[in-house]
Amino acid sequence: MNVPGSIAIIMDGNGRWARRQGLMRIRGHEAGVEAVRDVTEACAEWGVGDLTLYAFSWENWQRPQREIKALMHLLRRFLEDERPTLMDNNVRLSAVGRLERLPDKVLAVLRETEELTADLDGLHLHLALSYGGRAEIADAARAIAVKAAAGEIDPDEVDEDTVAAHLYQPSVPDPELLVRTAGEMRVSNFLLWQLSYTELFVTDLCWPEFRREHLAEAIEAVGTRTRKFGRVVEPQGSGETP
Ligand code: FPP
Repeated sequence: MNVPGSIAIIMDGNGRWARRQGLMRIRGHEAGVEAVRDVTEACAEWGVGDLTLYAFSWENWQRPQREIKALMHLLRRFLEDERPTLMDNNVRLSAVGRLERLPDKVLAVLRETEELTADLDGLHLHLALSYGGRAEIADAARAIAVKAAAGEIDPDEVDEDTVAAHLYQPSVPDPELLVRTAGEMRVSNFLLWQLSYTELFVTDLCWPEFRREHLAEAIEAVGTRTRKFGRVVEPQGSGETP
């Protein structure tokens, strides 16, 4: 298997999965934690460099308070419970998004986990929390404007590299593969800048059903595609001259 260096996942369908089982939505989120565990472990084993999981979007703040509270509780418990496993598997954890809106206790546990795993050099797991792709680009634009106003950046010199350098995690390579579960054909405000040339793979499975073998299928499927980055790529031996 030709494993991508950088993978991103939109974990969708927790609520639908729960409803189908006659359960409350939060049971779907709880079941989704098992999928997070399995996929993270697999990526660590396979030598993936970066895995970015869309765990809570900026728009998710509009959900009922009860569900937000339950999700925050689940996240905190996940971070506390998984720390030893993350460390055993040499996984570094980072969070991306407008984190200042997270409850203090969740933010504290996140920061502790980031510090504890900061020197680990295996898989880098990024949890997108309180995250919006447009918000990230707007935050980058504001940071650039502030520097321009202070005379640190020449506005005429602002280019794609400048914007990329002011995103939340400038050193993380753009994903080669984006997986979305639960059959939706949308990117839903996730990594809008970084997904420009990413290969998309959508599965009908809901997130709680998703396991490493499904990720392996996604990797195999996109591995056969030719990535052209807007250029013309002739099939080998086609005889076409430039
Ligand atoms: C989308 O399903 C999923 C979320 C909004 C949250 C994702 C959270 C988890 C997988 C569990 C906790 C995560 C970590 C990292 C510990 P949905 O509720 O939108 O499902 P639906 O579209 O079927 O209603």
